Amino acid sequence: ELLTSRGVPAPAAPQVRPRRLRRTPALRGLVAETRIDPGQLILPAFVREDLTAPNPIGAMPGVVQHTLDSIRREAAACAEAGVGAIDLFGIPATRDQAGSQAWAEDGILNRAIAAVRAEVGDALVVCADTCLDEFTSHGHCGLVRPDGDRRAGEIDNDSTLALYQAMAVSQAEAGAHMVSPSGMMDGQVAAIRAALDATGHDEVTILAYSAKYASAYFGPFREAVGSTLKGDRRTYQQDPANRREGLREVLLDVEQGADLVMVKPAGPYLDVLADVAAASPVPVAAYQVSGEYAMVEAAAANGWIDRERVIMESLLGIVRAGADCVLTYWAREVAERLGE
Ligand code: PBG
Repeated sequence: ELLTSRGVPAPAAPQVRPRRLRRTPALRGLVAETRIDPGQLILPAFVREDLTAPNPIGAMPGVVQHTLDSIRREAAACAEAGVGAIDLFGIPATRDQAGSQAWAEDGILNRAIAAVRAEVGDALVVCADTCLDEFTSHGHCGLVRPDGDRRAGEIDNDSTLALYQAMAVSQAEAGAHMVSPSGMMDGQVAAIRAALDATGHDEVTILAYSAKYASAYFGPFREAVGSTLKGDRRTYQQDPANRREGLREVLLDVEQGADLVMVKPAGPYLDVLADVAAASPVPVAAYQVSGEYAMVEAAAANGWIDRERVIMESLLGIVRAGADCVLTYWAREVAERLGE
């Protein structure tokens, strides 16, 4: 029994009908405020030295550690699908205190950059991770002050900068269009810009990991790169509690010459991303990290969520919050789906 019998008047017809724009897929497509374009996607990819076949990463189903051969094929497939860029991470066979394989000309990452660049030319932006953590024996992103030092055990910001400079220049010389300092050392963007310019690489772009948080969402990445890290990165990566500080880090990197800035992780930090997108004079990237990937894959494998829809919705949320480009392990898959 409806309530008219109790004297409740029949509801008035609404004057405004937002649903009118949702009637058909074509109407919805016409008025969508946010769209995903393959060209704004960046695929992070891992290349491991001394590997004879691609090696699956357990915590990241569908993602592998590549050989030099398989990364070339992956890059070619990305270019074919219209993906915007590939961001390369290297896993060396040997590690030392300083991470010297990071800037060795025949180091795995530099060989991968050269191989990929030879394969794709300019069809794909070839980007390299410019950080020491895969290359150091202790797994930190910078030099650790030695025993006997008054500050033994601390991460030595200023002496790390020279190593980042060497690494960035070696990456430019291997053919990288773009370098991406992710170590969160103070002054890293200025140091790298100066080194690139002084060596004739003024055309090489810097994608700065500016607002990078000390996040538990990086968990699966540790397996992906065989990280040896004990402890955490809380003395250099940002405290997840801090929103204003994310903007501060971005503005500092812009001052130092960053061509693009990044917020990382993406999904749990959309407030920071929106702040940065509103204030940044340069394009903004967001990194949908390994844990964000793994959670969706795990839930989907259990049949708990619709995998494809959740992937697209997660990316839409990141772009809607203001990202111009998105690093995502689903980059090629999504680009291929959009192209169908
Ligand atoms: C370190 C680096 C990390 C990631 C990218 N670069 C790990 C960390 O900072 O601990 C994480 C990426 C991911 O989780 O997908 N240079």
